[in-house]
Amino acid sequence: SRTYVITGAASGIGRTAAEILTARGERVIGVDLQGVDVSGDLSTPEGRLAAAEEAAGLAGGTVDAVIACAGLSIPKPITASVNFFGMTEFLEAIRPALTRSEAPRVALVSSMASMQPVVPSLVDALLADDEAAVDEIATRMAEDPRTANVIYPSSKRAISRWVRREAPTERWAGAGIPLNAVAPGTVVTPMTKELLASDEGRALTDAYVPMPLNSHQGPESIAHLLIWLTSIENSHCAGQTIYCDGGADAVLRGEDV
Ligand code: NAI
Repeated sequence: SRTYVITGAASGIGRTAAEILTARGERVIGVDLQGVDVSGDLSTPEGRLAAAEEAAGLAGGTVDAVIACAGLSIPKPITASVNFFGMTEFLEAIRPALTRSEAPRVALVSSMASMQPVVPSLVDALLADDEAAVDEIATRMAEDPRTANVIYPSSKRAISRWVRREAPTERWAGAGIPLNAVAPGTVVTPMTKELLASDEGRALTDAYVPMPLNSHQGPESIAHLLIWLTSIENSHCAGQTIYCDGGADAVLRGEDV
């Protein structure tokens, strides 16, 4: 069996991926604030490092795959920090354990929101690994209702760009590690529960993310793709953000391929 480390494994997409893999007989080491194998806070540099070390230790030094799901969608600076550094720094820290696997794989969760308008200075500060600048810019954005909700799309745009930039390098492709992201549309999880509970919330969400195929789906719709991307079968897909969104990307971007 393969050993998977899954962040955000206590809820939603991460939890579902962990359940499917465990049922298949794979070994899963969950990372989350609480309630799974490794309790850790991915919003701080120390928390990311400690969680990666503990997960690699529990795995016995060799990790076959990482599925990074942990994220927040609140209009606060912590969303930028968890969604971006909570994935990228965690992955950098656990990479040595991946290089010991015979078939290492990594998949991250981006979002359809990565295509929405962003604040370029925040995206640039994230990609420059400048956490102080990120805090400063995101704090200013959070204070203004016109920009507070742009923190989330900016963090996800940065994730998709990071995957594209990193995947072909020596650290990932060069080390035989396919690195990819999945961009879900609207998924029915605790993150979207409140939003989807009201008619207005649903109408607003569906206007941003029109999903002609099967509309609102549960977390297994995303978990299965994350599992394929991190399976041995994926030997050639790298650097991609794959939209798993009921056709929303095709509606919004049309033939602009
Ligand atoms: P969820 O809220 O059910 O699960 C997210 C998990 O991340 C929770 O268990 C939470 O405790 C954990 N987490 C949050 N902050 C953390 C921290 N500081 N340290 C460690 N763990 C932390 O949400 P869901 O829907 O499963 O989201 C998973 C990923 O999918 C997120 O990255 C989200 O942005 C993304 N996504 C979700 C969509 C949706 O419609 N639900 C759409 C597009 C992307």
